[in-house]
This record gives sequence, C-alpha cells and structure tokens, in this order.
Amino acid sequence: MEKVGVSLLCSVFFLSSRSVNNFLMTGPKAYLIYSSSVAAGAQSGIEECKYQFAWDRWNCPERALQLSSHGGLRSANRETAFVHAISSAGVMYTLTRNCSLGDFDNCGCDDSRNGQLGGQGWLWGGCSDNVGFGEAISKQFVDALETGQDARAAMNLHNNEAGRKAVKGTMKRTCKCHGVSGSCTTQTCWLQLPEFREVGAHLKEKYHAALKVDLLQGAGNSAAGRGAIADTFRSISTRELVHLEDSPDYCLENKTLGLLGTEGRECLRRGRALGRWERRSCRRLCGDCGLAVEERRAETVSSCNCKFHWCCAVRCEQCRRRVTKYFCSRAERPRGGAVHTPGRKP
Ligand SMILES: *[C@@H]1O[C@H](CO)[C@@H](O)[C@H](O)[C@H]1NC(C)=O
Ligand SMILES: *[C@@H]1O[C@H](CO)[C@@H](O)[C@H](O)[C@H]1NC(C)=O
Repeated sequence: MEKVGVSLLCSVFFLSSRSVNNFLMTGPKAYLIYSSSVAAGAQSGIEECKYQFAWDRWNCPERALQLSSHGGLRSANRETAFVHAISSAGVMYTLTRNCSLGDFDNCGCDDSRNGQLGGQGWLWGGCSDNVGFGEAISKQFVDALETGQDARAAMNLHNNEAGRKAVKGTMKRTCKCHGVSGSCTTQTCWLQLPEFREVGAHLKEKYHAALKVDLLQGAGNSAAGRGAIADTFRSISTRELVHLEDSPDYCLENKTLGLLGTEGRECLRRGRALGRWERRSCRRLCGDCGLAVEERRAETVSSCNCKFHWCCAVRCEQCRRRVTKYFCSRAERPRGGAVHTPGRKP
C-alpha cells in the first residue's frame, strides 16, 4: 500500500520526490515543513480517486496517472481533469487539517471574522479551519509543477483550482447555542472541513459535468494563441472541470496509454445494499464492452461465534460462507464457472 502510494504520488506530481525536492531546494526553506503534508495529501487524493472510480471502466490506474509534462504524450481528457482536481484538493485539505491540529507554528484557526455578524441570529466565532492557509500553500506546491504556457498547462491549472474550490465549497457550518439555559437566542458558528469523501463525491459530479473546450488545434504558442487560451479559460467558472480531449475507449487494452481494458475486472450484482451506479457495474464494465459476465463461486472460512471463557480464552468456530463474485470475461473462452451472456436489463 505504502509503495503503491509513493509511486502514484510520483506519477501525479511527476515526481514528488524529484519535483517537490527540486522545489524545496530552489524554493524558500520554509516550505520544507509542509512537504510531508503535501505528500500525504496527494496520496489521499489518489486513494479517493480509486474509491470514486472503483466501478467505472476507468478506475484510476497507476500507469494512466502519468501527468508529466516532460513526456511528449500528456493526456488532457476528463479523467486527467479529475486527477488534477482531486490531487490538488487532497493537498489543500491535508495542509488545512494539519494546520488546525497545530502541526505548524505559523498557522492556526481562522478567526478573522470572529465577532462579526454572519447571518440572521448568528455571529462568527470559534475555530474555523484555515482554508485560506491550505489554499495558499497548496497552490504554491501544486501549481508550481505546471511550467508550460500551452492549453494543457492552462487546463491543469484550471482543474487544480477547481479542486481547491471543491474543498472550500463543501465546508460545513457548525454552530453552538448561547442564551439562558441553552435557549439559543444567539449562536456562534465556524466553518469546518467535511470528510474528504464528500470532496471526492462533489468532484465526481463535476467530472460527469466536465466541459470540453476546443483549443488543441489552432492556438499555437504565439502571443495571440496564448491570449486566446487565457481568454477561453477566464470565461469558464473555476468550479467546473475542463478537458480538451475525448477519452479513449476504456473497454479496450491499450499498452501505449497504459490501459488494461475491462476484461478480468470484477463487477457487482446483488447480495449487498448497492447504489444505482454499482448495480449497473456489470453492464457498464462487461456487457457494454462486449464481454460476458462470469460467475465465480468461492468459499471463505473465517472465525465466528466467538465466546469468551473465564479466564482467559476466546474460542471461536470456523464458519464457511459461500460467496459469488462476478467478473468480465471473453464469451468465447469461459474460464470455468457459469457464463451468462449479458442481458439488456441492468
Ligand atoms: C499532516 O498529516 C499527514 C496525514 O494526514 C501526516 O502524514 C503528516 O505527517 C502530518 N503532519 C505534518 C507536520 O506534516
Ligand atoms: C491506443 O491509443 C492511441 C491513442 O489514442 C491510438 O492511436 C491507438 O490506436 C490505440 N491502440 C490500440 C491498440 O487501440
């Protein structure tokens, strides 16, 4: 897990070890104190990406996360947009939370509005999470990795910003009542970070609604071209994700792009409380990609019915449980187990 995280991180920030270290060496010494938060934040972004896309054809694979601007081939599709936004959000989130936890000497609660009227019947008070701090520092780290001036660089910067906006936009107001015996005649309120999962879910919605801008043709590296790029991005809200290219066909394996295709992927059918998106996963991953759904039965053995015996032992029984799992497979070559041709119904 640790190793995967580190290598992912490397891909995302081409390469945290190289680039962040370069930055640390050339940038102000002060930034050294944030580097472990930045690394942890980027990793939590990637873990959230894997969670949000677990039942999608594209499931946030390591190899496709290569966002390096060194390598000539840099993708600029909807998924690239999500990766930038969630990584940037993760870094901002972790910096902000660590600040509230007192990890940094130079930052603490945001009490800049305390005492001011916030709305009907409530005043700002208490300890608001200092997103301003997290925003500024994460911007320094993450945006600094984007050195180009082309449309791809502008897209990445835009999506980094959308990630930071998502953290800000999902913050929760928490209030405390005041007044005689809790009568709540006045309240003081502060802003708290949500669970990071909520930021991920918010960005997943933005991913589905991502806007495509047509800038890859024409707009060259001339001053006029750069002006056109800047104008285009200025006209789009920084709350929205933006992409330049269409996504490749994630059903298919494509070694050049580092894509595995959906053959062999697990999908979900029944037996658990599934959401609509999960319930349709077999159709999305297998059926719609021309693959069959293969059922594999397995038995798991685990400890159960444990009893505590005086004194002092715990004895358990071994329980066997049958589990059925579903995988996408090629219809012609069933690899054991029952093969179902996919129906049209979800
Ligand atoms: C900040 O948080 C992350 C994980 O949430 C942790 O790994 C890191 O060490 C923390 N503290 C500092 C000072 O970076
Ligand atoms: C892989 O993707 C590239 C870029 O989209 C495309 O040109 C190529 O034909 C694809 N290869 C296969 C085997 O599908």
